[in-house]
Amino acid sequence: MRRAWAWLGTIMLVSIVAWLGAPSGYRAYWRWQESNPVRRGAEIAARAGCFACHGPQGMRGLPDPGSGETVPTWDGGVPMMYVNGVQEVREYILDGVSRRRAESVSARAEREKAAIHMPAYRDVLRNHEVDDLVTYFMAVSQTAPVEDPQAARGRDLVRQHRCESCHGTGGSGGVPNPGSLKGYVPGWLGEDYTELVRDDAELHQWVLEGGIERFARDRLAGYFLERQRLHMPTYRTALAPEDADAIGAYIHWLRVKR
Ligand code: HEC
Ligand code: HEC
Repeated sequence: MRRAWAWLGTIMLVSIVAWLGAPSGYRAYWRWQESNPVRRGAEIAARAGCFACHGPQGMRGLPDPGSGETVPTWDGGVPMMYVNGVQEVREYILDGVSRRRAESVSARAEREKAAIHMPAYRDVLRNHEVDDLVTYFMAVSQTAPVEDPQAARGRDLVRQHRCESCHGTGGSGGVPNPGSLKGYVPGWLGEDYTELVRDDAELHQWVLEGGIERFARDRLAGYFLERQRLHMPTYRTALAPEDADAIGAYIHWLRVKR
């Protein structure tokens, strides 16, 4: 019995020392996994079966032999033809159609020819789930206007390099990354970002050099950075410091708008 206590004491002491010895940045970063509405919305969409008809991440609609078209996707400007603003997206989810399209004679004729019909989710989803789904849909469709020209340029650069295939839809993070500290690629919307990018200088280092000085000096961070399967690429040859600033403006827009 005495031995067991001695062991327990030793283990606790070692843990405390290891914890205190860990560099403060990483200690703070080692928290619960981050959550945000976009990421939750993606999970709800998967659970609700949306992707069965709209394709993975809403990007590849099923062929509809009745209409001769495919089920509309959520990206590539297609939503502009169906929905005007968040209210109509919500109506689609709740009732399987927007009020405007339900009342339009030509749209009704189109819908009658179709073999595949959008179900109504009013009875199976809670209000907050619908909120998250709408936010996710808006992030996929990228229909919200970016007024600030610098942020708009940042969005174009992010699209061009498809940064979000690693950093998640709308920068929501969560893409699995085996061997990394939290198990996923960090996003841009929440605390992971605040922890990893403390100022403009660090943003430049991440984007242009693929890592920051603060972690290069830190052995524990280095351990996880080396082990993880996905690494932040070095964009030095493709992007200039002004481009990193534009991307920073876009990330700021994402954080404030959403
Ligand atoms: C059984 C197939 C099916 C499922 C499941 C489904 N949809 Fe749809 N969805 C459709 C069809 C078909 C349309 C086109 C309806 C029309 O012509 O008005 C559509 C249209 C939409 C639209 C408007 C058009 C667009 O793509 O911008 C939204 C938004 C939408 N669906 C969201 C969802 C969401 C969110 C879910 C899951 C909660 C979902 N859908 C599940 C078949 C489906
Ligand atoms: C192959 C996947 C991949 C791609 C593509 C990628 N990144 Fe990253 N990025 C990562 C990983 C992994 C990290 C975290 C690295 C770490 O913890 O060491 C990261 C870190 C970052 C960070 C700091 C942490 C945070 O919260 O995001 C920023 C900012 C960033 N990347 C921006 C970009 C931009 C801008 C692009 C496109 C020009 C891009 N990334 C493309 C994988 C990627």
